[in-house]
Amino acid sequence: MAETSKSWKRLTRAATQCIDTPLSDWLAQPARFEDFSHQAAGLLVDLSKQRIDSDIKSELLNLAESRALPQRIEELFTGACVNTTEQRPALHTALRAAPEDRPEIAADVTAVQARLNELVAKVRDGRWLGYGGKALTDVVHIGIGGSHLGPELATLALASQSFSSPRIHFVANVDRAALDAVLRGLNPERTAFIIASKSFSTLETRINAASARSWFLERVGRLDAIARHFIAISSNTTAAAEFGIEPANTFEVWDWVGGRFSLWSAVGLPVMLAIGVSGFQQLLAGAAAMDDHFRHTALADNLPVLMALTGIWNYNFLGVTNHAILPYSERLRLLPDYLQQLEMESNGKSVSISGESVTNHTMPILWGGRGTNGQHAFYQLLHQGSRSFTADFILTTAGEDASAQVADHQRWLLANGLGQSQAMAQGQDDPDPHKVVAGGHATTTIVLPQLNPFSLGALLALYEHKVFCQGVIWDINSFDQWGVELGKRLAKPIFEQLGGKSALLQDASTQGLIKHLRQTKTTDH
Ligand code: F6P
Repeated sequence: MAETSKSWKRLTRAATQCIDTPLSDWLAQPARFEDFSHQAAGLLVDLSKQRIDSDIKSELLNLAESRALPQRIEELFTGACVNTTEQRPALHTALRAAPEDRPEIAADVTAVQARLNELVAKVRDGRWLGYGGKALTDVVHIGIGGSHLGPELATLALASQSFSSPRIHFVANVDRAALDAVLRGLNPERTAFIIASKSFSTLETRINAASARSWFLERVGRLDAIARHFIAISSNTTAAAEFGIEPANTFEVWDWVGGRFSLWSAVGLPVMLAIGVSGFQQLLAGAAAMDDHFRHTALADNLPVLMALTGIWNYNFLGVTNHAILPYSERLRLLPDYLQQLEMESNGKSVSISGESVTNHTMPILWGGRGTNGQHAFYQLLHQGSRSFTADFILTTAGEDASAQVADHQRWLLANGLGQSQAMAQGQDDPDPHKVVAGGHATTTIVLPQLNPFSLGALLALYEHKVFCQGVIWDINSFDQWGVELGKRLAKPIFEQLGGKSALLQDASTQGLIKHLRQTKTTDH
């Protein structure tokens, strides 16, 4: 176990020694930025506001070596069974660059991508016609978790590069309000639905898909029209066919693609529709560039490795219990949601690969919100609250072709981001105790040259690989998610009981709530 290793013990000692050194002292070192910032795949990752010096960095690298991280990275890329509880590899990297050693996988990916490219071209050129012979104006993507978060994040982030695209809408929540808000005002004759579910059995997606189908059929009245309006993305092609979707409109996702790593597969169809095939290829190319860096760069200069080790240092040695994602970009506002699934569903585990309880902490709570809005909401707690935290600031530049006005807004955005990370690190003294800002909060700054498909791909792959590295150090399986199953199972009998169909066999609290809800339902109108 990691915590018995020599490097773990040395890091524990180093933490007690460094914790009292003000972060501002570290920041005063003239070569701080040069020494602790790194670039790859067009991204800059600046760790100079972290509580790290060269000794701590080399001890963290020893820890990574002691956990055989280089070998484990190679195993990830070569399709070893890294998802041990489900007996699967996690080969999302194969979706971004064809793996030379796995021709059968490369062939499958190319074949599905070719079919997707054809569909995307037809929809964008107006050659995909609905049942009434009219081109599509709207596409509704129904999916949840990994089958939703990445596609919506990327579609929103890249909206400014979206030309000739139908309007893309997303429905994830089983709350009917989500579906109704999207369907309101749509013309079924010009609307297509994408049902994205790797398993094709996820409750929310099943219910929303069935309701969308009913909405469509009630208005159209022709079962054969489904063929021109419903598309499935799934590894369960049989269930997609049972739902009534044509094999020609069904696109496969393989079991070696984890749900939260599936944006790069057919699950990314809304993004392809929004930014076109060449835009999506740029997204893949950005992720592939980060893959290449991750696989072939020494640990000491390896961005995902360094981000992972910095997190381990903060969470396991310096006692930080939560991590904020602060994108200074309106178009990256869904990044915290996306990373909540990627990081917490992957590494929110307490059992080691071999099934023993872990003795060190794993992933802390990850949360966040966009700057600058957060500055007028939760930043007060960050600056003067009593809890420790770390944060990632994500900054983007406006790009050379931005108008003077846009560049001005962007400069304010960047100035605020830098000002906030400076305030969190340095704090301020004041004779009035109410105005003292303690500072000492370590943060990482990630800079994207511009928000475009390539840089977004690189950013998301950076986080994916960081998550993998932390899982290796913590000795947990980052690719399963058994913890989410229990609540899903319990909801089924409760659903029946809320409808009054079966006897109440619940704990006293849940039973009381069910009774209350049943009464409220009948008496509240
Ligand atoms: O929340 C559990 C989960 O299995 C996620 O891992 C997954 O991304 C999501 O549900 C959706 O699953 P599916 O694509 O099978 O509908």
